[in-house]
Amino acid sequence: MRMRTAWKATLASAAGALALAAGAAAFVWSGWYDVAATRQHTQAVYDLLEQVMRHSIHARAGEEDWVAPASDARLRGLRLYEAHCLQCHGAPGVAPARFALGMTPLPVNLVHTARQWTPAQIHWVVSEGIKMTGMPAWRFRLAPHEIDEVVAFVATLPTLSPASYQALAASGPAGDAGTDGPTEPDAETWPVDRARGLTALQQYACTSCHAVPGAVGSQPAVGPPLHGLAQRKYLAGHLPNSPDNLVRWIRFPQRVAPRSAMPDLGVSERDARDMAAYLLGPAAD
Ligand code: HEC
Ligand code: HEC
Repeated sequence: MRMRTAWKATLASAAGALALAAGAAAFVWSGWYDVAATRQHTQAVYDLLEQVMRHSIHARAGEEDWVAPASDARLRGLRLYEAHCLQCHGAPGVAPARFALGMTPLPVNLVHTARQWTPAQIHWVVSEGIKMTGMPAWRFRLAPHEIDEVVAFVATLPTLSPASYQALAASGPAGDAGTDGPTEPDAETWPVDRARGLTALQQYACTSCHAVPGAVGSQPAVGPPLHGLAQRKYLAGHLPNSPDNLVRWIRFPQRVAPRSAMPDLGVSERDARDMAAYLLGPAAD
């Protein structure tokens, strides 16, 4: 008797699981879900996503990660903000670029953020970006001191009226914001980090043209797959394969082969060395 009840319960839960899987499959394959950026999430889904993001950042942003830079950093931060952030987030009295108005989720006005978040939390977001929103990660594009400077500027946004923003923007030299890049002058002294290399391969859009071992993605075939690179005799057809030549190719393909479809992507020495170590290493077959 008891055996039969247990049997029935198992059958019922199996049928339930099957129905759930069938429902999920129907949801995916019917095209029922509308991915249009003009179609909002429901308020409940929006609130849920917002909470997931907030708690994720709260759990990861260490207060010690951000050190307030010197007081003149604010103007340098403003220049970086004008060059890299204003297009999406706007500034006091300044609208975002037209393309940003069509993004879902919409990039928030950072006055709101600076009132609620600590500089350390803003620092984490600017360094790492936010998945599924369009907020880029900046740590492969800005030097660490530049991230500190832009955060110092963002933290003061609530104190800036449109007039004081204009005055600050018009003061001092125009600056060459963002030309520093993530360069580390003493790249040779950094220990090679293969895990960082895989992140860098994704952060420099290598995965938009190449299938890269260990990287999740659509495995495009615009360039050759980068599996088993260590076994290759030549790179890109004629460059003898060595770690130094691979670094050179990754950084300056247009110098090595001016008619190659592979563009120079502004890869720093350190990042290229980490990528090369990953691609030539054992897990990359
Ligand atoms: C391509 C557009 C784009 C650019 C460029 C961009 N952001 Fe963002 N940013 C976003 C989007 C989208 C979000 C997510 C919107 C949200 O959180 O509601 C976001 C979120 C943020 C957040 C969290 C805000 C919050 O309250 O949720 C901060 C802080 C931020 N960005 C700072 C910056 C800084 C500083 C820069 C420049 C270095 C920058 N962003 C460049 C699109 C962009
Ligand atoms: C716009 C597409 C594109 C992007 C982005 C791109 N590549 Fe390439 N890559 C190519 C093409 C095309 C080739 C073949 C080049 C040739 O033979 O001239 C190539 C060749 C290579 C090769 C030589 C492979 C072989 O089998 O000899 C390596 C290594 C490589 N790319 C690494 C990278 C890395 C690392 C990045 C990111 C920093 C990157 N690529 C970004 C298109 C791209």
